Amino acid sequence: MNQTYQDPQLRQRGRASVDFLAQMAIASNDVRKGVDAAIAQRVPDPSALPDDLDERLAHMDALLADCGAYTMQQLLGDWHGRMHGRIAAEAYEEIKRDLTEAFEASQAGPATLVLDPDLQPPAYWDGVSFHRTGPWDGHPEMGYVHGEIVHKKMVARFFPGGIFQQRRDVAKMAPRDDYKRILDMGCSSGHFTTGLQLAYPDAEITGVELSAEMLKHAWRTANAKGWSWKLYQKLAEDTGFPDGSFDLVASYIILHEMPADAIRKLFKEAFRLLEPGGDMLMSDVTRFADMDKLAVWKADRGAKFGGEPHWRESASLDLAEIAREAGFVDVKAEGTYPHVIQGRKP
Ligand SMILES: C[S@@+](CC[C@H](N)C(=O)[O-])C[C@H]1O[C@@H](n2cnc3c(N)ncnc32)[C@H](O)[C@@H]1O
Repeated sequence: MNQTYQDPQLRQRGRASVDFLAQMAIASNDVRKGVDAAIAQRVPDPSALPDDLDERLAHMDALLADCGAYTMQQLLGDWHGRMHGRIAAEAYEEIKRDLTEAFEASQAGPATLVLDPDLQPPAYWDGVSFHRTGPWDGHPEMGYVHGEIVHKKMVARFFPGGIFQQRRDVAKMAPRDDYKRILDMGCSSGHFTTGLQLAYPDAEITGVELSAEMLKHAWRTANAKGWSWKLYQKLAEDTGFPDGSFDLVASYIILHEMPADAIRKLFKEAFRLLEPGGDMLMSDVTRFADMDKLAVWKADRGAKFGGEPHWRESASLDLAEIAREAGFVDVKAEGTYPHVIQGRKP
């Protein structure tokens, strides 16, 4: 069976496993309702929960220790965390021969890819198993396994809000429609870059990303679509591009995967890279400041056990303040998920 490059047509075994995992995730919503009912009884005033996040985790674990739905929720979450990457990789193994032709065809095209074998990735990224799928470079085809199978066949089915529509909506939020040179920081396999491409079809689009495997997939995607993306393996907070290279610098959910000092550097780098009058458009996960203590506990707990080592530190930051510190003016922050920060270089 020949495959089109995108939208994987899984074989029966892989499809069954992927469907099972997605259905388990959907079914766990009912388990969550049981946990929420127990919490409503046992936590009458969320504002009285401990301020310290580690204490809050321990407090809630103790409070829910005899709640069967909570135990089940933990087991399901752990199973999902351990299995989703493995199931996606196994589903890929079954179809990889079918993809040979499409992969080869997408080597040719207008996109360019510059890898840097000497790049030293930062310790906060190198070898870390994000989302428990594995390190971003942890599979020779992680771009396909994560960007196509995990995202399209799993996450898109149970994550609220439409993960691709959300990217397209954010891309369109920048104030102008005549950008000429756009940078996507942390472009990964190119999902948000696609949103930027569709919103600003006449712009030259550049993506930087640490993972060679994710970049390879973005490059093939662009070639298959006839898009002239310029893709580089670079550190987003230290790209080495000349000052003023872009008129829009954007990102989608890279920030919660970085510690606070790297985020501050990234905003400064975005400022440096913009020409005067250029726009910044960054988006990330819900700020802890926009949630009550219970919602913060849920997000923090999900991050701790879901392979998100930097989420707590990142979601605790006021990104609008960091943008102002970097020099941006007319800074505005809006939305919960995704939380969007915009600003302009004067
Ligand atoms: C959650 S993914 C977001 C991907 C993409 N923006 C999208 O819309 O799908 C985060 C990506 O950021 C990359 N990344 C993390 N830290 C980075 C850094 N300092 N410089 C460049 N890329 C980074 C990761 O390798 C990963 O591919």
